Amino acid sequence: MIEVNKLSKEFKNIKAVMEISFSVNKGEIVGLLGENGAGKTTTLRMLATMLEPTTGTAFINGLNVVKDGQKVRESIGILFGGEVGLYDRLTALENITYFAELNGMNKEQIQNRIIELSDLLDMKEYINKRVGKFSRGMKQKVAIARAIVHDPSIMLLDEPTAGLDVTASRIVQKFIKKCKEDNKAIIFSSHSMNEVEKLCDRIVIIHKGGIVEQGSIKYLKTKYKNDNMEEIFMNLVGDNIEK
Ligand SMILES: Nc1ncnc2c1ncn2[C@@H]1O[C@H](COP(=O)(O)OP(=O)(O)O)[C@@H](O)[C@H]1O
Ligand SMILES: [Mg+2]
Repeated sequence: MIEVNKLSKEFKNIKAVMEISFSVNKGEIVGLLGENGAGKTTTLRMLATMLEPTTGTAFINGLNVVKDGQKVRESIGILFGGEVGLYDRLTALENITYFAELNGMNKEQIQNRIIELSDLLDMKEYINKRVGKFSRGMKQKVAIARAIVHDPSIMLLDEPTAGLDVTASRIVQKFIKKCKEDNKAIIFSSHSMNEVEKLCDRIVIIHKGGIVEQGSIKYLKTKYKNDNMEEIFMNLVGDNIEK
């Protein structure tokens, strides 16, 4: 599970993330919802050990993200939106294998796992082709396979559907649901309340680096006496409201 405790990050004079605290249990999808610049990526990068927090702590399966970096990395799967960072000159299989080797898997484990994943994600037709000419959706599948090849128990997903068409987005959403079925703890960031509402058990709303609200959809609807989550979100982060 994931435990975030008063985590903060400052870049020179920018307070990107300010004392945020939340937790994610096994089998749970928590949505990190916020507008551009709210601090979603910075938060996920700290949890992924890619960025050191200025203050505060975070634990992944009881491991400290600052002190136990390598062990943390072995237990997390990362899927960040935008450019997914595959090697164009390598095949899908080679891309996934490379990452699996970095995670200490042996040849037999890798081979079995890739057969399983290529089946699961329906990639058999192009698993041995170079990814350079792949469509965005195909690349996203390879990135998904790479993210879960080592069967991590924690998934960190930063706007994984950004820039994808409807079909490719559905693939990612289906994948997220599968992760939940497999009892992983999942954080999924998005700027779209619609998407978050569809997938998440709980929502953490961040604005200008701080948490402005968190809870289940049912809790939020009851609290704000409003069935429209989009409206609740806009009322919380809209420019007309001083925080
Ligand atoms: N490496 C960096 N150096 C300086 N400022 C940064 C850096 N990364 C992010 N920021 C700033 O931190 C804030 C939060 O950014 P980010 O976490 O990327 O937000 P989000 O992912 O929610 O759009 C923004 O104001 C952004 O400009
Ligand atoms: Mg971002």
